[in-house]
Amino acid sequence: MTASTTSGKRKIGIINSGGDCAGINTVIASVVIAGSQMGYEFYGFELGWEGLLDRKYRQLTVKDAHAIAHLGGTILHTTNRGRFAAKVGTGQTVGIDPEILAQCKESMEALGVEGLIVIGGDGTLSGALQLAQTGVNIVGIPKSIDNDLNATDRTFGFATAVQVAVDAVDKIKTTAFSHNRIFFVECMGRNAGWLSLYTGVASGADAILLPEFPTSPESIVEFLRERRDHHRQSTIVVVSEAFELDGQLVTLGNDYTNEVIFSGISNQLIRRIEKIAPNEFEMRNVVLGHTQRGGSPIADDRILSTRFGTRAIQAYDEGQFGHMVSLQNDRIVTVKLEDAVNQLKLVTKDNVLFQAACKMGIFFGDSVPQEKKHLLDV
Ligand code: F6P
Repeated sequence: MTASTTSGKRKIGIINSGGDCAGINTVIASVVIAGSQMGYEFYGFELGWEGLLDRKYRQLTVKDAHAIAHLGGTILHTTNRGRFAAKVGTGQTVGIDPEILAQCKESMEALGVEGLIVIGGDGTLSGALQLAQTGVNIVGIPKSIDNDLNATDRTFGFATAVQVAVDAVDKIKTTAFSHNRIFFVECMGRNAGWLSLYTGVASGADAILLPEFPTSPESIVEFLRERRDHHRQSTIVVVSEAFELDGQLVTLGNDYTNEVIFSGISNQLIRRIEKIAPNEFEMRNVVLGHTQRGGSPIADDRILSTRFGTRAIQAYDEGQFGHMVSLQNDRIVTVKLEDAVNQLKLVTKDNVLFQAACKMGIFFGDSVPQEKKHLLDV
């Protein structure tokens, strides 16, 4: 599809969909600024795919772009629900109703939009792939605080989320120390433990409980007793929201789209530990929740977002449709969307940061041998 406006410029739509994170506005700004110089004009669709279906959009100019690049959230608003949802959570891909796909194409034709830059995580990009397969020109940009896309070394939004969580743990640490308390700090990230792993290592946590390495509450009690016996009075445990207790996820239930709403594992762990070891420990929990998605992007994310955005419009201009930009060994490359989606990246025992964390004596549960227990003696 090629189209041009009355101004004679080729018009491209920008869609961000799924959960927000820091850096979306930076990506939008970099696409618009770099793309305008290449002769394109941009329409930003409101609320992700919903805006495309309902033809709700705003024209994005270079002036708008300069004003938003450093802001958190997304000026276009977003939803991780709606008519275009290609999957629930990290689950199986659902075929999008062909009528909805056709409606997207009709909207684009009516508005003279010749193609799309789509900013999103696995769910959004799975939907984008289905639309691309009907012949729509699409280039994707990987976004997620979870950093769980296998086809890129990093998604934008992750670094800021880690920083937010580390800042929080730094504060929790001082009160934990004052009161000789144990804190369970719950991080987002769904089935991937990256956010917890990076947060835990950067903030000097004593234990990190990841969905990838389940462990029993009894082993956590043993770990806490050992620390207490070595006069370690305060302890920080970073726990992933999707950490399973007795093989069960702790959730607030499912929402109206059947999406799991995580929250509560940190609280449940305290209850279980209290049952096993009544009145032995003074424990508190903090759920970091959506703070991790909020605020302005840190410099690292602004830079990655700018690199992704400028490379994406270049890829579009070169006709690399059905591709996603990706960070690989510090270079931005393009990969096929079909190779990028449905490939969850999880923490594995050969990961270099995980191995460094083990060497630091951080406790990961009983399925991960602790190399340096004697660190408690020094
Ligand atoms: O996928 C990003 C993420 O922030 C997860 O870490 C978290 O479980 C989920 O989204 C929360 O989604 P919602 O915005 O629907 O509460």
